[in-house]
Order: sequence, then C-alpha cells, then structure tokens
Amino acid sequence: VTAQSHGGLDADELVALGVAGERVVDFSASLNVYGPDPEVAAAARAADLLAYPDPTGAPARRAIAARFAVASDAVVLGNGAAELLWSLARVLVGTGASIVVEPAFGEWRAAVAAGGGRARSVPGSASSLVPDLAAVARAASAAGAAAVYLGNPGNPGGAALPADGIAELARDLGAAFLVLDEAFLALSDRHGDLDRRLPENVIRVRSLTKDHGLAGLRVGYALAPPPICRRVEAQRPPWTTSAPAQAAMIAAMRRDDFVATCRRRLFDDRDRLEAALASLGLAPRPSSTIYLLARVGAASALRTRLLARHAVAVRDCTSFGLPDHIRVAARPAADVERLRSALAQELPCPRERS
Ligand SMILES: Cc1ncc(COP(=O)(O)O)c(C=O)c1O
Repeated sequence: VTAQSHGGLDADELVALGVAGERVVDFSASLNVYGPDPEVAAAARAADLLAYPDPTGAPARRAIAARFAVASDAVVLGNGAAELLWSLARVLVGTGASIVVEPAFGEWRAAVAAGGGRARSVPGSASSLVPDLAAVARAASAAGAAAVYLGNPGNPGGAALPADGIAELARDLGAAFLVLDEAFLALSDRHGDLDRRLPENVIRVRSLTKDHGLAGLRVGYALAPPPICRRVEAQRPPWTTSAPAQAAMIAAMRRDDFVATCRRRLFDDRDRLEAALASLGLAPRPSSTIYLLARVGAASALRTRLLARHAVAVRDCTSFGLPDHIRVAARPAADVERLRSALAQELPCPRERS
C-alpha cells in the first residue's frame, strides 16, 4: 500500500513538492466536510484521559446496539473501519478463500493477504462498475470461499445496491460470511438501509470517518454474529479504541439529524461538482453518494500537476485498476470553482483522455 493508494494528504509528498498543507483543497478524501458535529466533538473532548477506556467499549457497544436494535454482543468496535477489516480478515481467513468484489477499497485485499489468506477478485462490469451479484455467488461457490468482501456503496464507483439483492447474495453464500463495507451508506441515497435487517451471515462494517467527518479520531464498528465479535476481541489487544473515540461513538448514535442535514448539503455540493466536471467535457458516472468518478486520461500525472501547481488534491484511481480515472469528493462551491479552474488548465486534450 503506497501513500497514494488512499485519499487524503501525504505530509512527505507535500514537503517534496514544496506545497504547504494548509493551502491544499482536498477532494481526494471523501468525507463529510461539514463535520464533526459540535456535540460529538464536545463529547470526545470531555472524555477522561486519566483512566483506561473500557477494554471493548461496552458502553459504546450498548449505544450502537440500542440505535440499531441488535444485541450488544453483536457489536464490535474498531480503530476505524480499516482496523476492523484487518481484524476480521485474521478471524475469517483460516477457513478458506476470500472473494473480493473489485474495484474496491484496497485494505480488504491487504487485510486478507496479511492474515495469510488468498483473495480472488470478481470484477464489476467495466462500464458501470456495478457488481453482478449472481456472478459473485457463483465465484464464491466455485472457490469454496469462507468470506466475500463487498462495498455498498461501491468505492470508487459510487453505485449503491438494493438491500434485497444483498440479502439474496448472503443467502446464496450459505455458510460463508459476507463482509459488507458500509463506510459510505449513511451518505448515500440508500441511507434508510442502515436499519434494514440482513441475514445472519452478513458482517456490516461502518465508522464515523465519513458520515461524521471524524477521520482523525479513528473509530468504527461492525454489526456481526456474537461469535465473530468475540473472536475479533480475542485476537487483538484490549483498548483498541480510545476514551474520546468511545465517547464520540455514544454521542453520534443520537445525532442522525446532523448527518441528515449534512447529507442534503453534500448532495447539493456533489450536483454542483458534477455540473463543473460536465462543463469540462468530463461526464462522471452517476453516483449514489458523495464522490464522483471521472475519466481524465493519465490520472497519476494529472494528480501530481494539480497538487504541485494548484494545491488541489484528487484521488488517482490507478490503485483501483483505473489509471485513467480520478475520484473527487463533494465540497463547497468555492472549492469546486478552484478545482474546475485547475482542471481547465491541466487536463490533457480530449483525444488523450479516451
Ligand atoms: C470503502 C471504505 N471502507 C473503509 C474505509 C476506512 O474507514 P476508516 O477511516 O473508518 O478506517 C474507507 C476509507 O477510505 C473506505 O473508503
């Protein structure tokens, strides 16, 4: 995993390019730029730093369990969704192959490999990047897979799958687990599916990173069968989440209204971003969430020019197997204008883009 295989800024790269970090407008990390919610931030700040936090975050697990009407032993906290995905992979790999539905968040594959497992890819359709769930079920059965990794919505494509289709896939998987990465679900058209029941073999991974704009706090959770939650805890150290992280989680469970207000603003921002890209001859794919994927030609070189000359960061999608695409996240109007103007100067001519 290189620095550029995720969104967000790389301090060493900025130094090498001579770009001051505070000047950068970051379209590369897709998260709620209107967060964090003052109430959630205040709860984190008020946490007791002298005492150890609860080893498994029991009070936070109870708050999550109450919000989603599940048992508290069916909830496990993590140091962000990324840590949970790694911990889950360690628990799941021993039993067989893993299927990764691509293109996808790179940590799934890294986590399976680090756990000593074998990951097989099932690609989404080249034109829409929407996974063919029947093909995923067939691949899982052919491989005797123990786990299938799927994002909803997909990253970087942005398509959200209906809960009925996901439930059918989970049933088709039989005894295998479906690790469903819902990092962006609360900021998507299908946010109502956060409360939909899914079959018992679905492990739903979420965090406060995107919807609450709390990437720096590192706190996530999974809704999972209790034996899986117990095994995750058993194979990692105690206190994986800090007292501020646990306090923020408890407060966030009461703040759906904050996320709903931000979602509406971000969707407006996304629509403005889409119009700006369209005005440059880039037609982004339809997205159910707050980021857009655009075909630009050589994405890696474009990304470096945008950063070095304009202090504008975009996500080069080469690590997703899409070296001619960038992903850009919703941001306020003034930032979109800065991106539009930078792209107008730096985009390769249309012939070189196709
Ligand atoms: C699809 C997806 N899942 C999980 C994560 C990781 O989230 P967290 O910050 O909670 O570790 C990301 C971050 O980019 C992501 O894009």
